[in-house]
Amino acid sequence: QKKMILDLDTGVDDALAIAYAVAAPDVDLIGIVSSYGNNLLDVCAENSLKLLELLGQEDVPVFLGLPHSSTSDHFDVMQVSKDIHGDNGIGDVDLPAPKRPLEAMSGVDFYIEAAHKYGKDLIIIPTGPMTNLAAALKKDPEIAHLIGNVTFMGGALTVEGNVTDVAEANINQDAKAANDVLTSDLPLTMVGLDVTLRTLLTKKETQQWRDLGTKAGQAFADITDFYIDAYYNLDIDKNGCALHDPLAVGVSLDPSFVQTISLFMKVIYDEHNYARTIGDKDRLNEPNPNVQVAVNVDKDRYLATFMDLLTNLFKQ
Ligand code: BDR
Ligand code: CA
Repeated sequence: QKKMILDLDTGVDDALAIAYAVAAPDVDLIGIVSSYGNNLLDVCAENSLKLLELLGQEDVPVFLGLPHSSTSDHFDVMQVSKDIHGDNGIGDVDLPAPKRPLEAMSGVDFYIEAAHKYGKDLIIIPTGPMTNLAAALKKDPEIAHLIGNVTFMGGALTVEGNVTDVAEANINQDAKAANDVLTSDLPLTMVGLDVTLRTLLTKKETQQWRDLGTKAGQAFADITDFYIDAYYNLDIDKNGCALHDPLAVGVSLDPSFVQTISLFMKVIYDEHNYARTIGDKDRLNEPNPNVQVAVNVDKDRYLATFMDLLTNLFKQ
């Protein structure tokens, strides 16, 4: 059984990633590490606790990660995030305050401990900035050779960014950290805008959750409808909301949802083209690239699986 750690800036689609990880068979969600991005670090952490409680998963520990450390002004997209994810990050849906605290151990130390304990059985899914994973690699570089796979939501190779022409939001929060992770020896899968913008959810699906008449079905429908409305009103997509983060979880468990190309990647983190994810031309002739970049997705099969898993989960 795979051991999974989610690293989230919880966020509406991060919430859907939690639900997917809880619902998926053959996976043991051993912890959530909190990042910042869609909201402040502690709000994102609290959202993860609240959502786990809603899903009856009070035994999944939540660890606090690092706040943004850079003095760069590139990361300040807070207002945009609130427009898309709501003031509280989860579609302004009021969930009860968590009954339990965060873990005392830091998210960075949890990564290092889990890498040594589970080795190749460990999958890590960052769906926010990669500040925590970069810090763990810096503290214990050996973990790059221990961890089974890191499947992250972030970046864009074949399409424009969603923050600037070249920058995707998660990479844009901490492009240096993203570069440290991508240029490490970690085995990586990049689930970027190339595929996530094609994978859309509509109110037809969220209504199915609401119709279940359960607390979880109702809350997840309301949370996601906020995000679908934001996509519509901000003219991001009139046909539905992108399933960015839950697609990364799905791909980590079933890579056949996507087609990939193998590359050594880097992230540009100087002023010009800040946060662009791009193949490293200096390494084009090196064997065994460490990044599988998703460039095409079987969105119908993914969406069917997503709906099966989440609907069953929300029924309980
Ligand atoms: C990514 O940015 C965040 O706002 C979303 O949760 C997702 O992880 C999309 O660019
Ligand atoms: Ca996210």
